Amino acid sequence: MRIDLFRMERTQSLYENEVEFNLSESGVLPMQIQEILDGPEGPSSLHSLRLKYPPAAGSNLLRERIGLFYGDARLENVLVTNGGSEANYVCLWGLLDKSDHAAIMIPNYLQTWGLARAYAGRARPFRLVERHEEGRARWALDVDSLERAVTRKTRLILVTHPNNPTGAVLNEEEMDAVVRVARRSGAFIVSDEVYRGAEVYRPGERPGPPSPTFWGRYDRVLITAGVSKAFGLPGLRTGWIVGPAKTVSKLCSYHDYLTLTPTYLSNRLAEAAMEPVKREAILARTRDIIRRNLPRLEEWIRSHGDLFDYIPPVAGAIATIRYDLPIGSVALFDRLRRERSVLITPGGHFGIGKYIRIGYGYDIELTLRGLARVDETIAALRRASPARRAPRRSAAAARRARRGLPRATA
Ligand SMILES: Cc1ncc(COP(=O)(O)O)c(C=O)c1O
Repeated sequence: MRIDLFRMERTQSLYENEVEFNLSESGVLPMQIQEILDGPEGPSSLHSLRLKYPPAAGSNLLRERIGLFYGDARLENVLVTNGGSEANYVCLWGLLDKSDHAAIMIPNYLQTWGLARAYAGRARPFRLVERHEEGRARWALDVDSLERAVTRKTRLILVTHPNNPTGAVLNEEEMDAVVRVARRSGAFIVSDEVYRGAEVYRPGERPGPPSPTFWGRYDRVLITAGVSKAFGLPGLRTGWIVGPAKTVSKLCSYHDYLTLTPTYLSNRLAEAAMEPVKREAILARTRDIIRRNLPRLEEWIRSHGDLFDYIPPVAGAIATIRYDLPIGSVALFDRLRRERSVLITPGGHFGIGKYIRIGYGYDIELTLRGLARVDETIAALRRASPARRAPRRSAAAARRARRGLPRATA
């Protein structure tokens, strides 16, 4: 089977440990083991554990606690996986055949786009678009594009919610539209909710409940998520699928061909992290980091006047910014890496054009020093081309447009 190059992950793997300033992180500063195991025994409670295989679907305690994060999901609704990425992989592999179509939200973390292109007969994009509503700009669901993307053959509609890279959260009307369109063709909704719980609150605002989940809105919903983003625990590689018991049981039989089980230690640590009181403390830590760091990044954005067009994220320690410079996003990403040792993530890696995504959930002082290097490149670009010409569409871009693919190379 052929599969597209997953360009975002490949380039991150190649360069994230090479650059001086890695602004491509999409989570928050990871937690320490001693912060998770902070009971009387602490991390020493791990010393005597026997490293056996854990139960294939994850321990009952972990599955039960994951279920509680969604209200009424039960043991049989939960399969623990190795990362949210394995959860996505198992869902798309297990659900799609070459006779099926899949509709994928764009912009997105393009793992699911690549998987849908590999396993379905056809992958069609539908879009989040920048819209001004009630005096403010937001990333809104283009319901028309969703209607066009979903046909009788559509087996699966994939939403990333909250969205990577935009940090957008659908409103109730938009969530209803996704359910209505899915119901019409009997399609599954696969909702990647790995950023749920990392909501943005401004100084002085009191945190409310996490972003709304698709769980419970329709009988054919599969949630994929994990502890890598909102929980600040990417090194655990713990993810999950929450779905109808029968579908989860079918997906278990696909998981048997992959990693069989979670890792024993991660299962143990994730049990502690997902204990409801601890879980809320961990999410509060994440929202605190976001609340402190985002205004600093926004100062930098504002200092560039109308060079940038920016819609603030609703959730996630990532900000996606449209820029007005005569350079494509992948070329800009290459140049920043080679000339300034700074890694950003280009819009092209999410299926959109002249955007950059900046992660702001780590050391914000370091992030700002990296952004000062970005400023040097911006100044050089402005010096080199003070007058701008209208961009011409390349032959490759025209081909992509004809095939209806997202602009993954801009
Ligand atoms: C939307 C989305 N889903 C899934 C993943 C993968 O998560 P994990 O690190 O848990 O495999 C990522 C990672 O960036 C992501 O952004």
